[in-house]
Amino acid sequence: MENNTEIKRKKIFSGVQPSGVLTIGNYLGAIKNWVSLQQDYDCIYCVVDMHAITVRQNPADLRRRTLEGLALYIACGIDPDKSIMFVQSHVPAHAELSWVLGCNTMFGELSRMTQFKDKSKKHSDNVNAGLFTYPVLMAADILLYQTDVVPVGIDQKQHIEIARDIAERFNGVYGDTFTVPEAYIPKVGMKITSLTDPSKKMSKSDPNPNSYVNIIESRDDTIRKIKRAVTDSDSEVRFAEGKDGICNLMNIYSSFTGKSYEKIEKEFTGKGYGDFKLAVGETCADCLQPIRDEFSRLTADKSYLESLMKDGAEKAGYIARKTLSKVYRKIGFYQLPR
Ligand code: TYM
Repeated sequence: MENNTEIKRKKIFSGVQPSGVLTIGNYLGAIKNWVSLQQDYDCIYCVVDMHAITVRQNPADLRRRTLEGLALYIACGIDPDKSIMFVQSHVPAHAELSWVLGCNTMFGELSRMTQFKDKSKKHSDNVNAGLFTYPVLMAADILLYQTDVVPVGIDQKQHIEIARDIAERFNGVYGDTFTVPEAYIPKVGMKITSLTDPSKKMSKSDPNPNSYVNIIESRDDTIRKIKRAVTDSDSEVRFAEGKDGICNLMNIYSSFTGKSYEKIEKEFTGKGYGDFKLAVGETCADCLQPIRDEFSRLTADKSYLESLMKDGAEKAGYIARKTLSKVYRKIGFYQLPR
């Protein structure tokens, strides 16, 4: 007979780099789903500061954004009583497992990563080894927690695939060690594009602040940026090829409201882009308002955030160390008697 209490909940792991203030791309592509997945999964959410230093960071900004990252997770709806939240560099097992996995990852497979190619072009003065081995550290993040599901935007799909390949290879050589994870990518919201160039992904590290909306952006700036978003010269609100800017705004509107594209097209039949953009801007600002309020409340209480960080690092560290010991045993690292 099936015993419900023995059914194990599946595990979720995901993270965001504290390389800028989170954008609505991060929110709609990832964090919004993290919140709803808390109901049915055991979730671990990480501020991945070690990934952020693959690109040069200002140390004071990185420190501040790391704390703010945690505050933003909570402000968006991650419940510290339900989910584990922590900072990557507080759990040394990530770096340790990353070395072992790096010795089980091929140069050729890392060379095929599109993010590496893009970022090396963008930061041609700093094409460091960390930028190249970035997906190995990301695989370590995921595999340490025996993760079943990784909720991310579409840009991270290739990184999840390589994490699966590494896990399968390791399991094949050393016997069952890691759960092979799956990506969870939302249909709507998986790729929010730049407001100034809809052929590019919206990115928190874009030097042009008009290209993105932060999730703590003021109401006026949110509406202004969306009103100014680059669109085509047509005036019909329709989800169609050649209308990348409008498709992006429909994507944003649909993600926030749950309305289908057909419904949105009907809603704006006979109305111009001006009305549509205003509606998207206002909806966006309304939905972000409670997040912004909660964020300011939380950041005023640094000691609370630090206590959460400490607690999260302990809980995550305990799980991570278990996997790491298993890995060390399997690969033949000498175990000292206890
Ligand atoms: P990062 O910090 O670039 O982005 C965090 C999350 O936001 C999603 N995302 C987007 N989704 C839709 N539209 C966009 N414009 C957009 N921009 C970003 C990303 O897909 C991601 O889910 N490598 C990861 C961080 C990471 C990680 C991990 C994720 C490190 N270790 C382990 C999952 C599991 C990254 O750079 O995300």
